[in-house]
Amino acid sequence: MTEIPTDLQKRLKAHGQEHVLYGWNELSVIQRTNLVTQLSTLNFRELDELIAKAKVVEPPPKSQVIAPLSVASGEATANERSLGEEALRRGEVAALIVAGGQGSRLGFDKPKGMFPVGPVSGASLFQIHAEKLLATSRRYGKPVLFLVMTSPATDTETRDYFRENQFFGLPESDVIFFEQGTMPAVCAYTGRLLLDDYGTLALSPNGHGGTITALAERCIFRELHTRGVKHIYYFQVDNPLLKLCDPGFIGRHISTQSEASSKVVFKERPEEKVGVFALIDGKCGMIEYSDLPRELSEVRESTGELRFRAGNPAIHLFAVNFLEQITSGDGLPYHIARKAISHFDPEAGVTVTPSSELNGLKFERFIFDALPLAERWLAVETSRAEEFSPLKNGSGADSPETVRAAQSALHSGWLERAGVPTHGHTVEISPLFALDEAELKRKLPSGFTVTGPTLLR
Ligand code: UTP
Repeated sequence: MTEIPTDLQKRLKAHGQEHVLYGWNELSVIQRTNLVTQLSTLNFRELDELIAKAKVVEPPPKSQVIAPLSVASGEATANERSLGEEALRRGEVAALIVAGGQGSRLGFDKPKGMFPVGPVSGASLFQIHAEKLLATSRRYGKPVLFLVMTSPATDTETRDYFRENQFFGLPESDVIFFEQGTMPAVCAYTGRLLLDDYGTLALSPNGHGGTITALAERCIFRELHTRGVKHIYYFQVDNPLLKLCDPGFIGRHISTQSEASSKVVFKERPEEKVGVFALIDGKCGMIEYSDLPRELSEVRESTGELRFRAGNPAIHLFAVNFLEQITSGDGLPYHIARKAISHFDPEAGVTVTPSSELNGLKFERFIFDALPLAERWLAVETSRAEEFSPLKNGSGADSPETVRAAQSALHSGWLERAGVPTHGHTVEISPLFALDEAELKRKLPSGFTVTGPTLLR
């Protein structure tokens, strides 16, 4: 490519973004082609609207009626459990992992899913999730389709990693990778597109809510219909504790004909950094922890429990038809975040690294914005110790140390209740040995003892 396509040049001019062509004559043919490809994916009209929205001082939010969401508690009934098991036997449930994030807080130079979190085995997050699916498909005699959402930042390494590890025993045809979309970062003052280098836009993944549009754009819905998949079990890459494809949860979702079902972990302290579910104007919704007014976060019921305590561990079940309907409109809204963004200044030819100045805007979609669109929803209680220990930070809270300890504590509990004292040793039970406590009890060799760090595999 030698010339800039005329229509693109006109569009850039009309939207005040011609600076991205700075240095065009010095770019190689490949760099030119890449730049034109990046630019051709942009929706300039939408971008202008978002930039304008970011500049407007937001009017006070419409007054909303916010009430606690009712949460179903207790175990699923035998009937609900068998509904879930039948759906798994018929292959009607696919698992969808969102693994496109940049994992910036963790400070790991590979996709987060490759991080070793097995407390004894050092198994990666991807391995643990994949083995849960393999064990589930063996138990129900039907493969569980595994949808792996990546982003340009994680795609190649993730695919290579699965391939090098023979897909962790899953049939390759049952693992579908699909890339989410990206959004450009723009200057918070001028609205100009930020660059990483001459001819390279600063793009980042468009948020976990980008999943829904990506499913449509990558023709995954068609594949799901062909395979008879009706429900999507959605989860995040960073939580190795979740009960993946929990049949009781699936059965409850089916028996209530819910379009969106969510697991809930109860908050005990107001300052816990987890978003909460609430009934907002009569619909199921989520309030991020930073947006929950302090006076609401601290209200307690007469029982002493927090009124808004329904924390979100990001484990959802969605009806396929419901997600597909969302893509027929504008999709989920974008949230605008002001951030410090390093970028390349093409005119000066230097990289600018802001120390703390929030110089840029990023745009992201969040999956929980799908919840208020559901006509029928369900929220089901689970416990943090059993299902939620996310890997977010390099140290401190939600770090490798806490995530490994949470897995060992869970598996220790299973062993202790099966009559095997663990004497405080680190233990780990591979999903391929036992998916749950009941299976562990059945399979434990008699006379089994724990005398040091132990892996059951
Ligand atoms: P987080 O919001 O915790 O982001 O994502 P992150 O990328 O893991 O970590 P930080 O914030 O950069 O430190 C929660 C989940 O959503 C996925 C992540 O991969 C993780 O599973 N995600 C996030 C995406 O798949 N795409 C995105 O654009 C953002």
